[in-house]
Amino acid sequence: MPGYQNPIGRHTMLFTPGIIGPITLRNRTIRSAGFEGMCPDGVPSESLLRYHESVAAGGIGMTTVAYVSVENGGRTFSHQAWMRPEVVPEFRKLTDAVHRHGALASVQLGHGGNMGDRKVSGQRAVAPSTRMNLFGLNLPRAMTAADIDRNVKAYGEAVRMSHDAGFDAVEIHAGHGYLISQFLSPWTNRRRDEYGGSLENRQRLLRRVMREVKNAAGSKTAVLVKVNMDDAVRGGMKEAESLETSRMLEGEGADALVLSGGFVSKSSFYMMKGKIPHREIIRRQSSPIIKTGMFFFSRLVVKEYPFRELYFLDAARRFREALKLPLVYVGGIVSRSAMERVLAEGFQFVALARALVKEPDFVKRVQADPGHVSPCLECGPQNLCVATMYDGEMECLYQGNAAAQ
Ligand SMILES: Cc1cc2nc3c(=O)[nH]c(=O)nc-3n(C[C@H](O)[C@H](O)[C@H](O)COP(=O)(O)O)c2cc1C
Repeated sequence: MPGYQNPIGRHTMLFTPGIIGPITLRNRTIRSAGFEGMCPDGVPSESLLRYHESVAAGGIGMTTVAYVSVENGGRTFSHQAWMRPEVVPEFRKLTDAVHRHGALASVQLGHGGNMGDRKVSGQRAVAPSTRMNLFGLNLPRAMTAADIDRNVKAYGEAVRMSHDAGFDAVEIHAGHGYLISQFLSPWTNRRRDEYGGSLENRQRLLRRVMREVKNAAGSKTAVLVKVNMDDAVRGGMKEAESLETSRMLEGEGADALVLSGGFVSKSSFYMMKGKIPHREIIRRQSSPIIKTGMFFFSRLVVKEYPFRELYFLDAARRFREALKLPLVYVGGIVSRSAMERVLAEGFQFVALARALVKEPDFVKRVQADPGHVSPCLECGPQNLCVATMYDGEMECLYQGNAAAQ
């Protein structure tokens, strides 16, 4: 929409191309990795393809397939994929469909660590240290040096397969309390070897992963990293160490960082804010023990954080000031004016998850009507879409104000 002046009075760059390492997005919008729950038995389904195709047709610059594990043992859900040769042709169909609509495709690669589910992978969960994870009632095994070496290699192999599958970018998941984040965080990392203790030691796994990933990515695949600005748990990683870690990633050649926060096993709604759909989440748990535990304790243990538009902006600004590489802002975008504001503050890209659940064409909508606001705002958000991913496909359950009353 040429000539449109954004609400803070500067000319918009939202619909101008943007560069991340070797790739150029047609505009500044990214579909944030939001677990779709659309890989039954670990295999990408037709609905996963259709969802990402609809986001691409809806105007996004790049869409991100969420939470693909680099190893079977890193899976949290049975309907979560892990990158392996058998799924490459399925992902290829998805990336072809996305490309047909002029968008690019990224895949988030990670490992659940202490969130890994033995019923899913047949393996005991692994973590930096043997510490109970109350979320899934998991007692993980501390990783050996050989486990770590294998994990690092798995990242490289996953990047090569992602490239074969047609992905333009990979996003390494180093936040939210999954394996890499568990190593970074003093709350979960109690190791006494070269991977624990000092920040440099806690960063060692991530640094090794980055080198392996960059090597595998070569000059074709962009490498983004999702990081926590704050773990939001007592004894966890705070902003000063997160900034240091982000500088390290910049030095290791990350093409962009996605700034987030929170720990799924303790402060899971810190990354999203808004209401916690306890009832819906408990209803969808398959294990009677976890169901009962959550019934009694989840309201006491999982903290609620109020939602406001651009809730991470204050913290993200400090990262913007300290770093030179492209930054992706994510967190509470429900309007075009919010996107414009973020870009005007020096962030190169904006990412959205919830706004694209009910409206995969949200980007086209705000292009056509700059005043359009996502129904997420009206929803609260109650975050019912988050509950749906536990046992099935991510979907918006919000029926509008009238139905909610
Ligand atoms: C249903 C759902 C699933 C999510 N799954 C993931 C995930 O697999 N990986 C991840 O990094 N973030 C995940 N997130 C967090 C989002 O990527 C994003 O950081 C967060 O929702 C804030 O963005 P928003 O306000 O635009 O929704 C998820 C969010 C939602 C709503």
